[in-house]
Amino acid sequence: MSRMPVLEVQNLVTTFPSRHERVSAVDGISFALHSGEVLALVGESGCGKSISALSILRLVPKPGRIEAGSQIRLAGEDLLARSIPEMRKLRGAALGMIFQEPMTSLNPVQTVGVQVVEAIRLHERLSADAARRRTEALLEQVGIPDPRARFQAYPHQLSGGLKQRVMIAMAIAMRPKVLIADEPTTALDVTVQAQILDVMRGLQRELGTAILLITHDLGVVNQLADRVAVMYAGKIVEEADRRTLLTAARHPYTQGLLRSIPALATHRARLEEISGVVPSPHDWPAGCRFSTRCTQVFEPCTKQVPESREIHPGHTVACHAVARDEEKRCATASAQATSFARDEQGRP
Ligand SMILES: Nc1ncnc2c1ncn2[C@@H]1O[C@H](COP(=O)(O)OP(=O)(O)OP(=O)(O)O)[C@@H](O)[C@H]1O
Ligand SMILES: [Mg+2]
Repeated sequence: MSRMPVLEVQNLVTTFPSRHERVSAVDGISFALHSGEVLALVGESGCGKSISALSILRLVPKPGRIEAGSQIRLAGEDLLARSIPEMRKLRGAALGMIFQEPMTSLNPVQTVGVQVVEAIRLHERLSADAARRRTEALLEQVGIPDPRARFQAYPHQLSGGLKQRVMIAMAIAMRPKVLIADEPTTALDVTVQAQILDVMRGLQRELGTAILLITHDLGVVNQLADRVAVMYAGKIVEEADRRTLLTAARHPYTQGLLRSIPALATHRARLEEISGVVPSPHDWPAGCRFSTRCTQVFEPCTKQVPESREIHPGHTVACHAVARDEEKRCATASAQATSFARDEQGRP
């Protein structure tokens, strides 16, 4: 039996109003995140990654809304049943968050030290002195050199990498069970990006923080993720552990994503991108949403939505072509087993 997941999302549907009806930006996604685990949510722009994250945090921008039937549980507790003030308390405490743009989340007219102190005192009664000491320790923990001096700095006096470290310090101040990081390193240059990923890996190892890591960068996935869920047009199309996903992906979309990254391509480095773009929620094709860009389309693809099926323990794929190939493989295997059994019986 597996342990209870620290975050469990089931059949999450988040919609926005469109011309005539509501359209689903996130359309029935399910996943589980265990403590100490890093789950990466990947996919091209517009596929619903941020809306999924904002849904978990209950921060979906209006007029978006989470539909009935969706389930989000944090350590077994139903988040969709929480009131707005209760959610506000949970965010920053049990649920930490880091976004791509640290500049927009930090107050420009307040020192970063005071901002971290305030974040702590929002959740815990602590003397100013104790909160200050804790802040300095946190700044040090996320690798900010000379934390005492940096405490006094205003956001504009810090580099993008340092600002993102301050955001991480704030996000982990209350030792959240789950940290939701939406493109935490996208705005940073490669060296700083690697340092931030190191800080996050340290947190996951030392504090057992579970991380939902949202990224379109499979290089980042390779460095940090334990498992990977691939999203396309509002749905999770494939999920597997990192190694399986990077070396034995089965969904044509995942395979295309992998081929578009020379460093990760399993064969020779070829920059072979998937043609076309992610359709927008109001003109999603019938059947499989990837069918308009897929090279393996056959009869059912344009008619029926493919169901997600587990092809190996822990590896799920939602693709008609994969399902067909798996059925063939199983049929061949069982035919072989039958003939083997017959041979055995016929043996003198
Ligand atoms: N405020 C909004 N109003 C209406 N529709 C929205 C809004 N925000 C997002 N959407 C819809 O939800 C879809 C998913 O958006 P989301 O921001 O989750 O994509 P993403 O995967 O995070 O992309 P990116 O990689 O560019 O950040 C968008 O294609 C858009 O149609
Ligand atoms: Mg996004």
